[in-house]
Amino acid sequence: MKGLLLAGGHGTRLRPLTFSGNKHMIPIANQPMLFYGLQHLRDAGVTETAVILGPIKEGIEEQVGDGSRFGLRVTYVPQAEPRGLAHAVLCAREFLADDPFLMYLGDNLLEHGARPFADRFGAGDARGVVGVVPVKEPSHYGVAELDANDRIVSVEEKPPAPRSNLALVGVYLFDPTIHDIIARLTPSRRGELEITDAIRALHQETGQVRVIRLDGWWKDTGRPEDLLEANERVLASRARNLFRIQGQIDPHASVSGPIELGEGSTIGAGTGVRGPVAIGKDVHLEDGAFLGPYTSVGDHSVIRKAEVDRSILMEGVEIDARIRIVDSIVGRGANLSSRTHPPSGQSFIIGDACKIVL
Ligand code: TTP
Repeated sequence: MKGLLLAGGHGTRLRPLTFSGNKHMIPIANQPMLFYGLQHLRDAGVTETAVILGPIKEGIEEQVGDGSRFGLRVTYVPQAEPRGLAHAVLCAREFLADDPFLMYLGDNLLEHGARPFADRFGAGDARGVVGVVPVKEPSHYGVAELDANDRIVSVEEKPPAPRSNLALVGVYLFDPTIHDIIARLTPSRRGELEITDAIRALHQETGQVRVIRLDGWWKDTGRPEDLLEANERVLASRARNLFRIQGQIDPHASVSGPIELGEGSTIGAGTGVRGPVAIGKDVHLEDGAFLGPYTSVGDHSVIRKAEVDRSILMEGVEIDARIRIVDSIVGRGANLSSRTHPPSGQSFIIGDACKIVL
């Protein structure tokens, strides 16, 4: 079984973060989102995977390399324009050859990974395996309607009037039968080759698409609020294990709950952290700074005076202001400080499509 990890697309809903980098390299609990996909593929038994690269691909090849640090052999497949999930399969046709493959959307996170798909496929009666999870707003997703025996009745992409509350998660397992079906697909109304159309045709032509109901959480991180929720979920799951403390905690700092503190980092006197919180390497908390639950702070950041709750601060962030920051995402190298001298008033350099709530 091969892997197909999708890291293309424009990531328009995550602008401005995706103006300067690929959305799959945004950190969740201090680890690029794509790394979870690579780990899940490996843990499901994949040894060789293609990664689909789209128009914004900066950083992926540099950080993932040949995949050996994940226990994988990684090949890169270009998809110049995001013409749909089934189109990505078409781009990787040569790499996939006639092997079954586990397809994983790089912006999806699953609490229990992709192993259940491989296990179900291993039962031997499937040409496709899809997973479903009940959701509150099914019209935002691919939706599956099932009969009493969990067999597919219908599958539809983002239906205005969904026939069930079961969303298709972004992981699929296919045998090579899918390639002939995708070769015959025509673009949908939104101009994409839809994987849901391929799944529907595979079901109609073979009757061998199996459905698994996933337990555990699933998060599709398309929007900024999804990133914050994914960060919270991963930190909460990780908090069940003991976090590692490699940096220094001053005896006059107040630390409670599970925290991770990277090498060379310091939690200074008079500062505080209430976990679950993940702090990278060479991060410094000074001058009364406080980090509240479900916050992650990337390497080489400095936080002074501020309180930060349920937020993602990426690498090299500097905050030096007496403010409370909540539910926020701060990009690499961003700097937020307060004036020490008049004139008073706020001063901003805000990039395109930024969102600020005061
Ligand atoms: P989407 O979330 O549908 O698209 P996107 O990531 O471009 O985001 P937006 O809608 O905000 O512009 O993509 C789901 C996943 O599949 C994501 O990991 C990107 C990937 N993808 C591809 O690799 N190729 C494609 O052609 C498409 C449509 C998505």
